[in-house]
Amino acid sequence: MHLMTSNELRTVVVPAAGLGTRFLPATKTVPKELLPVVDTPGIELIAKEAAQAGAERLAIITAPKKQGIMAHFRTDAELEATLEARGKEDQLAKVRATDGLIDVAAIEQPEPLGLGHAIGLAESHLAEDEECFAVMLPDDLVLPYGIMETMLEVRQRYGGSVLCAVEVPEEDVSKYGVFDIAADSDDPQVKKVNGMVEKPDLEDAPSNFAATGRYLLDRQVFEALTRTKPGKGGEIQITDAIELMISEGHPVHIVVHQGKRHDLGNPGGYIRACVDMALEDETYGESLKQWLEQRLGE
Ligand code: UTP
Repeated sequence: MHLMTSNELRTVVVPAAGLGTRFLPATKTVPKELLPVVDTPGIELIAKEAAQAGAERLAIITAPKKQGIMAHFRTDAELEATLEARGKEDQLAKVRATDGLIDVAAIEQPEPLGLGHAIGLAESHLAEDEECFAVMLPDDLVLPYGIMETMLEVRQRYGGSVLCAVEVPEEDVSKYGVFDIAADSDDPQVKKVNGMVEKPDLEDAPSNFAATGRYLLDRQVFEALTRTKPGKGGEIQITDAIELMISEGHPVHIVVHQGKRHDLGNPGGYIRACVDMALEDETYGESLKQWLEQRLGE
């Protein structure tokens, strides 16, 4: 049956309507998706990743107070004219980097009722024949790019839905959605999932394979979401909808990411991401490295 599964990725849903409470006070006025990693906001990094995975458009779930996110993708003719007049070619190229990259549409989530609720809002924005879609969380940096391409291959092979996982230290499992892995999963990279639990207590965690912010979902998830009651934190959790689908026989696999992963949603993870990316940066890398060595030696 899975050979019939359409494997074309057209839409990437980007939930960006959360309150960002772990990043207050900055997020009182600045959406966390606009905080720069070196000089580029998380939302632009996601647009690049989605375009590279072959998607045609981003469906960004936004909140009424987070209008700046969509503004980031709009042309600012005045700024461009000024940069041009001043001969600032490099900056002009940066400002224009999102032009023609990918189509961007906004879907408003009036209230932050949870990640599952946010994803559910995308249903009416998919074409009728889109059998799957991706979700990419802009506060999760999964490097190098390319995990979604592997996830698409896995859906081609097994059908159903495919998620990205990383192995986390045991003491961290209660921060994540955690996978219950099939016992016969001996492929180190692709594993069948028997179940999924949102933020379990350490003693209840079925493994230390944790969900990262990359999902390739069959559109059946929308129907499962309509039957998903508020869970942890009173929010509608995507984890609970996926668990429901698994319990009804929907195939779910994980691709275990072997590269880097940074959580941009809290200051600690965000600072690491900035340092990591800056160390690779042509302009800032060398002097940052020298300064860090000196600073750590103090
Ligand atoms: P998080 O839980 O990481 O984001 O949700 P948050 O709620 O903004 O952060 P804290 O916990 O208050 O610090 C994961 C992703 O889902 C989006 C968030 O914007 C983030 O990208 N989200 C979450 C929504 O779009 N809507 C929601 O109702 C909840």
